[in-house]
Amino acid sequence: MNTQIIKITENHMESEIEEAAEIIRGGGLVAFPTETVYGLGGNALNPGASADIYAAKGRPSDNPLIVHVADFESVYKITKEAGDTARILAEAFWPGPLTMILPKSDIVPKETTGGLDTVAIRMPNHPVALELIRRSGGYIAAPSANVSGRPSPTTAQHVVEDMDGRIPAIIDAGPVGIGIESTIVDLTGEEVQILRPGYITPDDLSRVLGRRVSIDPALTQVDKDVAPKAPGMKYRHYAPRAQMILIEGDAREVAAYIGEKALEAESGGKRCGILCADDTAGSYHASCVLSLGEREDEAAIARHLFAALRSFDEQGVDVIYSECFNGGGIGEAVMNRLLKAAAHQVIKL
Ligand code: TXA
Ligand code: MG
Repeated sequence: MNTQIIKITENHMESEIEEAAEIIRGGGLVAFPTETVYGLGGNALNPGASADIYAAKGRPSDNPLIVHVADFESVYKITKEAGDTARILAEAFWPGPLTMILPKSDIVPKETTGGLDTVAIRMPNHPVALELIRRSGGYIAAPSANVSGRPSPTTAQHVVEDMDGRIPAIIDAGPVGIGIESTIVDLTGEEVQILRPGYITPDDLSRVLGRRVSIDPALTQVDKDVAPKAPGMKYRHYAPRAQMILIEGDAREVAAYIGEKALEAESGGKRCGILCADDTAGSYHASCVLSLGEREDEAAIARHLFAALRSFDEQGVDVIYSECFNGGGIGEAVMNRLLKAAAHQVIKL
């Protein structure tokens, strides 16, 4: 299959998006930008389109897709019930990086929800995405547009790397703004529960709701017997090809340890990658030292993470040592991705 790149230009934006919408209306797939990461979109109400999304990604079919909408009215059509909590959260955070899980209505095929009776819904905060959804019939199922297991794409070029020849078209509207996927909240239980940490933090949510939100216990345990409630969270993900090890502890000790390990690896003939922040980047000597930005600038750290993980592959490193980036709310989301990329290999100093 020949993959067409649809570049968005200010002057012809509408006709370019219409071209993509026509493909989706016809049952085809188009990768498109959102504010979080690039998505791989198809008509969410068409079981065939959802099946094609799984095939293009090589994704296990029990891992449900997020349905992207362009207005809140659409939520009523694809759910059995959307109560006050959903409305309040949508008013506060939509369009934006928040996905809500609700009981699905009959028009949503099980192919889209990985066999579940619930559906994940999000209104993305990106003008191209919103226009595409409106012109495509209102409901676009879209996982991140990476091959299953690879880091999520934050540029159209990343999508080309993974999807060229597999899908009819990719919309290129430049790099995304946020860089990690949406926060997922489950609204089907007694309490509001976070199933995937993201840019919107537990504090942001509880401030708006006026009550505590819980976090899926499986996210903070490495115990293999506790299955996470978002099926996708159980898979190895974001992983660079090289072995990756996180080093946790006092900042100075961490830098010294990583420096030593890098020296050891390189003198043993290995190419070493280091993932760090600006303050320590200059002190390291290794084949590939990548800084995510200033340590205090959590948004920058999140925005640069996936591109950095992809670069390690391009540079063909054999082993990667990474500093940790926990701290505030977004830091938790970053650490969640890093832990998965490192298959939970952490050395605590
Ligand atoms: O920011 C995002 O959310 C991006 C952009 C493209 O919108 N999308 C994204 O989709 O990250 P994906 O498919 O890569 O991740 C969706 C996650 C998976 O972990 C999946 O298991 C979970 O959402 N999920 C989807 N529907 C669910 C449901 N009904 N119940 C529980 N988890 C669900
Ligand atoms: Mg994904």
